[in-house]
Amino acid sequence: MWTKETLQSLIKEKMSDYLFIVVSNREPYIHTYEGEETKCIFPASGMVTALDPVMKSCGGVWVAHGSGSADRETVDEKGHVRVPPEDPRYTLRRVWLSKEEENKYYYGFSNEGLWPLCHIAYTRPVFRREDWEAYVAVNQKFADAVLEEIGGRKAFVFIQDYHLALISRMIKEKNPNCITAQFWHIPWPNREAFRVCPWQDDILHGMLGNDLLGFHIQYHCNNFLDTVDRGIEAKVDYERFQVMRGGKTTLVKAFPISVDYSDIAEQCGRPAIEAETKRLIKEYDLRGQIVGFGADRIDYTKGIPDRLRAIDIFFEKNPQYQGKVSFVQIGALSRIHIPQYKEINDEITRMAVDINYKYATGHWKPVHVAKGHFGRLTLEAMYKLSRFCVVSSLHDGMNLVSKEFVAARTDGDGVLILSRFTGASRELTDAVAVNPYAADDFADAVKTAIEMPPEERQKRMARMRETVARNNIYRWAAKIISELLKFEFKEI
Ligand code: F6P
Repeated sequence: MWTKETLQSLIKEKMSDYLFIVVSNREPYIHTYEGEETKCIFPASGMVTALDPVMKSCGGVWVAHGSGSADRETVDEKGHVRVPPEDPRYTLRRVWLSKEEENKYYYGFSNEGLWPLCHIAYTRPVFRREDWEAYVAVNQKFADAVLEEIGGRKAFVFIQDYHLALISRMIKEKNPNCITAQFWHIPWPNREAFRVCPWQDDILHGMLGNDLLGFHIQYHCNNFLDTVDRGIEAKVDYERFQVMRGGKTTLVKAFPISVDYSDIAEQCGRPAIEAETKRLIKEYDLRGQIVGFGADRIDYTKGIPDRLRAIDIFFEKNPQYQGKVSFVQIGALSRIHIPQYKEINDEITRMAVDINYKYATGHWKPVHVAKGHFGRLTLEAMYKLSRFCVVSSLHDGMNLVSKEFVAARTDGDGVLILSRFTGASRELTDAVAVNPYAADDFADAVKTAIEMPPEERQKRMARMRETVARNNIYRWAAKIISELLKFEFKEI
């Protein structure tokens, strides 16, 4: 069983003379102004949820975009701030982007291009030359910041996600001694889908600058190998899961990401949870109710309208549950400058209003939708007080809400309704599996979850808890670090 401590000893023993650098677009701690005050928030990001505990135990430097309104006020002259603010364990190096760079690189190429390209959620990707040019320039900016941090040292650079597909080559051009790994937190689509990208060759070439490329599941690795095999000049070795291009070898492997199971379980036992539970019951009028819960970034890939449609059909087909079941959906606003995100946000509000108009009586409301930023305390209290949690993504690399819910259920109870189109559904086979596109079946799954006998709930939850406890975030990091250690450090 991997723990914080065993990961720490692995790093101490094997990596002590290496600098460990994580680089991502999203930063783990965002400083913002609230009136006169400065506040530090933890973003709604599966990537951050997974990597922050790893950095807390490894130490090192995390290079990321400084996106908060008070970020510049809280760093030193090198753009450094020690985090977490209440118990500093590692250094955050912020990279500054202009509004124009952010618009074209982040909103444009990354999130209007690559995001819909990689998620099969039937949203058309948009590719603009100026967005691509900004993407290249911003990748170079991140690479330069990483090189500055490395100085002359030996380093492992661990690159996160689709925003930074080009930086491994940019880093290695100037410092060939670095060992780089990249983890792609979103799905990799099949070759047919990917080949519409006008800059597919550059992206594949960039990614193949890495020594190691990680995806959540083997299916995404296979799609990637097939995309390379049929798309560019390279030798693909399907036996060893390797790609050779221009004398360089990249290992492609699946590493299912996870959460800090023991920390979540510990946090869920603290007394503050009880007070928060009481507050939430009061706020949403949940006394005596069977509670269903969903927590997502508001994104068209998460299947939130499909979930609300299923709830609507459930009440229509099962009027005996009207007045007895309440569904609470919390949503973190996300990428709101992109038209599809504005639309999905409005659609969710409209649907909740319509469902409530249709069924609400007296004090009872079938659906509560709360939007904004929600801290760990609220999330964990909601996980604990709910009978069932719904994750209904149309397509999702992994989905860590499902694993957080399981880790939070220290009482061994609760039912997870989980989309078949998430990476997590490969591991959490004791969830009630749904196809979010099949509204009637989805509504029946809600009924199944509600009516599942307690012994059955507990049996399934025990098995899922065992899986998440074993395949925790420290195991994920240890597996990647162990792979990296196989790459010999080559002096020039
Ligand atoms: O997990 C995929 C991902 O795109 C992360 O890289 C990102 O931090 C998270 O989703 C949330 O999105 P954003 O950073 O755009 O708010």
